[in-house]
Amino acid sequence: GPLRIIGVPMDLGADRRGVDMGPSAIRYAGLGDELTALDYDPSDVGDLPVTHPEVGDPDAVEPATGHAKYVAEVRDVCTRLADEVSETLADGAFPLVLGGDHSIAIGSVNGSARDADIGVVWFDAHADFNTPATTPSGNVHGMPVAAFLGEGEFADSDWAPAGVDPSNVALVGIRSVDASERAALADSDVTVFTMSDIDERGITDVTEDALDVASDGTDGIHVSLDLDWLDPNEAPGVGTPVRGGVTYREAHAALERTAQRDVRSMEVVEVNPILDRSNRTAELAVELAASGLGKRII
Ligand code: ARG
Ligand code: MN
Ligand code: MN
Ligand code: MN
Repeated sequence: GPLRIIGVPMDLGADRRGVDMGPSAIRYAGLGDELTALDYDPSDVGDLPVTHPEVGDPDAVEPATGHAKYVAEVRDVCTRLADEVSETLADGAFPLVLGGDHSIAIGSVNGSARDADIGVVWFDAHADFNTPATTPSGNVHGMPVAAFLGEGEFADSDWAPAGVDPSNVALVGIRSVDASERAALADSDVTVFTMSDIDERGITDVTEDALDVASDGTDGIHVSLDLDWLDPNEAPGVGTPVRGGVTYREAHAALERTAQRDVRSMEVVEVNPILDRSNRTAELAVELAASGLGKRII
């Protein structure tokens, strides 16, 4: 069916530069041809305009409490992305969003949830559950899950919560959690599957559980794939690598299971070609998107 590729060259939510080239790197890695071979009818809307860090001041606008760099710019991009995703769905097409840093998930999830009850499966090394009050870095890419759920000061800020029920959110493959995130997650209804769970139970069981969490009573699932979910040996082109991630086969197995569910929207984020080896991480992003969209070996 129809699928729309939406590039978001967002480089404002993270410290390491170069993730704004992610959408180009993923296209260059052959995304369009792969989707066409899968019998999708892809069209590419190009990239949403995103200002460069050099143009703005990270501290021009401060949140009411705490710290969040480029917060006004990130919010503006996410508002436009939410509109684009929601229009894509209204037109009967599947939105595939290319990042950019993970702050863009605030926009994708808001757009996907606008006219439906959705669950979210979050494949990541990180929980991304900080708020401006708890963040150790001030980087919004460490905050999107808290933001779309309206946690903490996101509840009464300019970020409208997406209306997603935290009991329909599952984080998978987590291995880097800040102390404040750990406490906030314990108080929330978000389900966390760590790397230890994958070690003990295997990737397919854990993924099935995560998909059940996101499917329970919802109309569909938003899949958010941060490439730092994989082990850095496999995905070196990311800004915040963490050792001990999922293997190449585990990643494919998880996305192949995902494809068998009601996937409503998907994003692939944190690909940083500047830190990569010969575009390997973007090529992996294309492969995993294909598995998540139904590609099988035979
Ligand atoms: N927890 C750290 C922070 O909040 C790192 C977040 C990394 N997030 C990501 N999407 N790569 O700054
Ligand atoms: Mn840039
Ligand atoms: Mn992330
Ligand atoms: Mn991450």
